[in-house]
Amino acid sequence: EKGGYDHFMIKEIFEQPRSIADSMRGRLKAEDAHLHLGGLSNYMDKLAEAKRIVIVGCGTSWHAGLVAEYLFEELARINVEVEYASEFRYRNPVIEENDIVIAISQSGETADTLAAIELAKSKGAIIFGVCNVVGSSIARASHAGAYTHAGPEIGVASTKAFTAQVTVLTLIALATAKRKGTISEETYRQLLIELENIPSKVERVFENASKIKEIAFIFTYARNFIYLGRGLNFPVALEGALKLKEISYIHAEGYPAAEMKHGPIALIDEDMPVVFLATHDSSYEKIVSNIQEVKARKGRVIAIVTEGDTLIPTMVDFVIEVPKTHEILTPLLSVIPLQLLSYYIAVMRGRNVDQPRNLAKSVTVE
Ligand code: F6R
Repeated sequence: EKGGYDHFMIKEIFEQPRSIADSMRGRLKAEDAHLHLGGLSNYMDKLAEAKRIVIVGCGTSWHAGLVAEYLFEELARINVEVEYASEFRYRNPVIEENDIVIAISQSGETADTLAAIELAKSKGAIIFGVCNVVGSSIARASHAGAYTHAGPEIGVASTKAFTAQVTVLTLIALATAKRKGTISEETYRQLLIELENIPSKVERVFENASKIKEIAFIFTYARNFIYLGRGLNFPVALEGALKLKEISYIHAEGYPAAEMKHGPIALIDEDMPVVFLATHDSSYEKIVSNIQEVKARKGRVIAIVTEGDTLIPTMVDFVIEVPKTHEILTPLLSVIPLQLLSYYIAVMRGRNVDQPRNLAKSVTVE
């Protein structure tokens, strides 16, 4: 059932080229500039007219929501708020009729997320579900939605569900932008083509697996880790840190890189590994100076860079390359090495990767 792999987690990491493709199948055909989400077709006008979108989720799904915030704001120019479902539901949130709430959940059974959408629904919001499990409670409680087609995710640490969520949310943001006219024909086409290229680019990230394993070996006994990124890579930093914590039990924090100087930089010394998301995008120059700040304090830097980068490799201890893509799609590639890094570290520490202590695959109690 693990298809020859030692753990479900690694099997699911390696399944991502397929699960991402499955999440686009029948919805996207770049050649014909075709993008259609059947489950949302009756609601596309509501989406295009929305003044505000509230996204709710927990854990990794909340991270996918943070990525979606950038996508909807950038492409569709809609104001987005991303909320932890557990905070939202107990806060007497301001919800108006016709507000759109997107609930993201792999299992579709997370108690806090379900309660958050019931609350929003009672106030007249329109609820869209982005769930992986067909017929799950959240899918049923939603007015409409788009399933992720990641297939069953068995490993407790979410991997292929995250990339499937980001894929589907990208499709929704693109379809909305197209309907609203906030995206140029050229960017739209480019993004559709580039989305279709993502599965084979994920495949190319896997070519670095043995290098990532070597890095994992070096840092197996680290006690702390910091993950830093900016823009779309900020949620990826959070996700990388969460993966490491939950399966290896190493304390890890993710931060927006610019926040480092407001506190966490005090932690940097020669024992502190810092993972930088440093792909070649609009934040590149800023990230380069953040790397300098860490190196000046003797931090040990692992950088995720774009293929062909010649500057960062001269500055840091280790680099892991990912293929170049459109900036908007970066998280789909930059998260992959972080999943692998946490997996290999956890295995080397002898952890029960698929069933880490204290965690359940779906959190059906609050
Ligand atoms: C992290 C992880 C959890 C879940 C969270 C939400 O790897 O698995 O943080 O992402 O419990 O679960 P779903 O998406 O099922 O609502």
